[in-house]
Amino acid sequence: MKDEVILAIESSCDETAIAILKNGELLANTVNTQIEEHKKFGGVYPELASRLHLQNITAVLSYALSLKGFDYHTITHIAVTIGPGLPGALQIGVMAAKTLATYLNVPLIGVHHLAGHIYANEFVKDFKYPLLAIIASGGNTEIVYLKDELSFEIIGETLDDAIGEALDKVARALGLPYPGGVNIDKLTKEGDIKTFSLPCVREKGYNLSYSGLKSHLLRLIEKEGDMTLERKKEYALSTEIAFMNQLLDKVENAIKDYNPKMLVIGGGVSANSYLRKEAQRRFMGKLDVLIPPLWCTTDNAAMIAKVASHLIKEKKEASLTISSQPNMKL
Ligand code: KG4
Repeated sequence: MKDEVILAIESSCDETAIAILKNGELLANTVNTQIEEHKKFGGVYPELASRLHLQNITAVLSYALSLKGFDYHTITHIAVTIGPGLPGALQIGVMAAKTLATYLNVPLIGVHHLAGHIYANEFVKDFKYPLLAIIASGGNTEIVYLKDELSFEIIGETLDDAIGEALDKVARALGLPYPGGVNIDKLTKEGDIKTFSLPCVREKGYNLSYSGLKSHLLRLIEKEGDMTLERKKEYALSTEIAFMNQLLDKVENAIKDYNPKMLVIGGGVSANSYLRKEAQRRFMGKLDVLIPPLWCTTDNAAMIAKVASHLIKEKKEASLTISSQPNMKL
């Protein structure tokens, strides 16, 4: 059987990434993150993101291809994130992918970014269906049911702010640098920290809401004025618990109702220590819980290649006239 060699590109937000997946084995996984450049703006500055992708993509590509003994003529497919994401940022990856697919005369595979976050977990273990997936990132918060491979049904989602976006805003009010979620998590790791309870959010079904909780916290923080490090830690841990438990309570209900064989977590917020620990503690023994390794919680192209390998099996190739879809639905 002919080898399957996928070169995948991801550029939907603030990471320029290229990966090479050969017959399911990850040969290269190069990620250039722009976090430092966006820090001074307190969040991702879209126009800067596009310019940095354009500036860096060829270096990232050359690095991935510099793999010892690798001949780029063996590439059989080019995969690329086509959406959702920042319009300008997506276009850089899509243009590069079309150029490579044309030059190498191989099929192009268009991949949904969130499918990537879900299938990143296949680097831990093969999936068992039906499966429940949590997507928790700066731009998305969804509970997704997969009856089968690549069949996505969003059964719950945030009705306002994404979990990471709200966490980042609370972190900023606490005087923590971008990306705030990471720094909230760091604060909660040392010492014996006291917590206080925050209001419970009760949305219908499996839906979620983070905006009210965020505004409540912002008001509390403003009233508090100058805070000691100890008090900041109390805020950080209490926030983390309230945010993650809202999500996990809904997931617990969905597990009872849908009876999935596996639970997987994806997206930047899946790096959160409390979420990782608590998901294991609550659900281990009831079903398989996959916690992604930290390297595949942030945006990367390995996860895009993984989805592409499933799309290839189903012969779902994209046309070379395809364009990016910033608001693409799962
Ligand atoms: O998936 P991602 O890298 O980018 C997109 O939004 O697509 O997610 C970034 C989000 C940010 O809000 C960041 O604060 C959050 O993930 N994040 C975390 C942690 N690491 C990243 N939030 C909580 N705890 C973490 N350890």
